[in-house]
Amino acid sequence: MSDESRPAPADGPSGGPAEARTAAVIPAAGRGVRLGPGAPKALRTLGGTPMLIHAVRALAASRAVSLVVVVAPPDGAVEVKSLLAAHALPERTDFVVVPGGASRQESVRLGLDALPPEYDVVLVHDAARPLVPVDTVDAVIEAVRDGAPAVVPALPPSDTVKEVTPAAAPGAPEPVVATPDRSRLRAVQTPQGFDRQVLARAHAEVTENVTDDASMVEQLGLTVVVVPGHEEAFKVTRPLDLVLAEAVLARRRLNDGF
Ligand code: C5P
Repeated sequence: MSDESRPAPADGPSGGPAEARTAAVIPAAGRGVRLGPGAPKALRTLGGTPMLIHAVRALAASRAVSLVVVVAPPDGAVEVKSLLAAHALPERTDFVVVPGGASRQESVRLGLDALPPEYDVVLVHDAARPLVPVDTVDAVIEAVRDGAPAVVPALPPSDTVKEVTPAAAPGAPEPVVATPDRSRLRAVQTPQGFDRQVLARAHAEVTENVTDDASMVEQLGLTVVVVPGHEEAFKVTRPLDLVLAEAVLARRRLNDGF
């Protein structure tokens, strides 16, 4: 979908410099075992459309995002390419598909490796968060363009959180070690946004297994900032999350109808 004649990339949500080009990497190579048996999680449907397509559209909805790199299951790149071809996506956005790896971290790194040099802001977004609103995407981009090396959207947890000594056997009682002050805790979502050089360095230098990209940047000793997340940016992990996601889609359809 590359086109020499395409218009110059749009200014960012803050009217930032057009040369700060933004790409999104969507790791979608996980099997999603906690959802139960079936297709890889990203290929399961919500409202009849694969979760991955929802996630791609959610990121491409930002006028600042001019490239989306989808990291497919290792043996599923061809299938993901045809999926993208079969669904309506914005003309102004380029799409690339690369095969993923054994861990989320490796999948993200393979996605970063596919970025052309001209992109200097990178978003990393879980395919498993298909319903993130565009305002959240834009808020993350804006904070990176304003100078933060790493930005994460997050919400205060609604539950009190306990630190425990994990049980050796599933279901066994677990001793509580501490109750962190909830007012200081945030539950982190995606897209996480980065200065591209910072994220590339984090992936080159941090070898410990982590569950999000921002924590790799923390390990470099750099500042990560939080911006407000959104309740609709939740991760589809367990079967009940699918029910919630269908309900959110139904509510959007109803609202769009008026
Ligand atoms: O497993 P979890 O829900 O934390 O995965 C978060 C995201 O990372 C999902 O979108 C999943 O597809 C992706 N992932 C990946 N490669 C892996 C494992 C997970 O791209 N090997």
